[in-house]
Amino acid sequence: MQAIAREAGALLMEHFRRHVKIEYKGSADLVTIADRQSEALILERIRRSFPTHDVMGEEGTRIETGSDYKWYVDPLDGTTNFAHGYPVFCVSLAVEHRGRRIAGTIYDPTRDEMFTAEKGSGAHLNGEPMHVSSTAKLAESLVATGFPSHKRHKNPNIYFYHQLTLRSHGVRRAGSAALDLCNVAAGRYEGFWEFNLNPWDTAAGVLIVEEAGGRVTDFSGGPFQIASHETLASNGHIHGELLAEFQAIFAGRGLDAPPSPVAYAKEREP
Ligand code: IPD
Ligand code: CA
Ligand code: CA
Repeated sequence: MQAIAREAGALLMEHFRRHVKIEYKGSADLVTIADRQSEALILERIRRSFPTHDVMGEEGTRIETGSDYKWYVDPLDGTTNFAHGYPVFCVSLAVEHRGRRIAGTIYDPTRDEMFTAEKGSGAHLNGEPMHVSSTAKLAESLVATGFPSHKRHKNPNIYFYHQLTLRSHGVRRAGSAALDLCNVAAGRYEGFWEFNLNPWDTAAGVLIVEEAGGRVTDFSGGPFQIASHETLASNGHIHGELLAEFQAIFAGRGLDAPPSPVAYAKEREP
């Protein structure tokens, strides 16, 4: 898996270095080419070594033969960043055995960071054991989130962003859910949440967080499910506090209204 992820990462970097700034203007083709070429390469390598395995890839791959093994492939997580030349993106690969996540690999080619996990064997960053942070309080935490690319107007995440910003050291929104999960696993973030992610965004990262000693649930504390539209990951220690915040926000309790920009504008008038 690592060899495949590394090869796909190198392909993405070639596109990123050579074309991204020029071709982004007026065209999203480059992204499509990079996404598709990466998925094609990954699929070819999987088929070569594991011809009987099922595969689900974001760019359309659906091999469903009823195999015990199933791969989830995000050939480029962080497409918007990639298209703008912002170097935060990765390749994400996961394997399930009879519906149970057994292996995950996420490769960040911009930093040459390889995040891996095997069920029951812990998580590793470039071969070194990796653990979540030991921070025990939300007030001392750095957390992260993401916003959906589609139907943004229907998503309430801005309220969660605001509340959690007030209750933590800050909320980052870097644009790659797979790397956000790796950053929880590596102890750089204490928590991460997002609405409406897809299986290829989360399959590898969730296992990596769990194997690094963290916890992943839905927004009510129920078990994370691959088809779930709610991902809440943490170092485990602040999970209870995060769940309590989510409950309060969903119930509309203690919501601090964001300051009014209109009132602000009046004050700044000469
Ligand atoms: C996206 C990224 C982003 C998240 C979006 C995803 P893509 O994946 O993970 O961080 O906020 O919800 O769709 O489209 O770049 O593979
Ligand atoms: Ca993705
Ligand atoms: Ca993608």
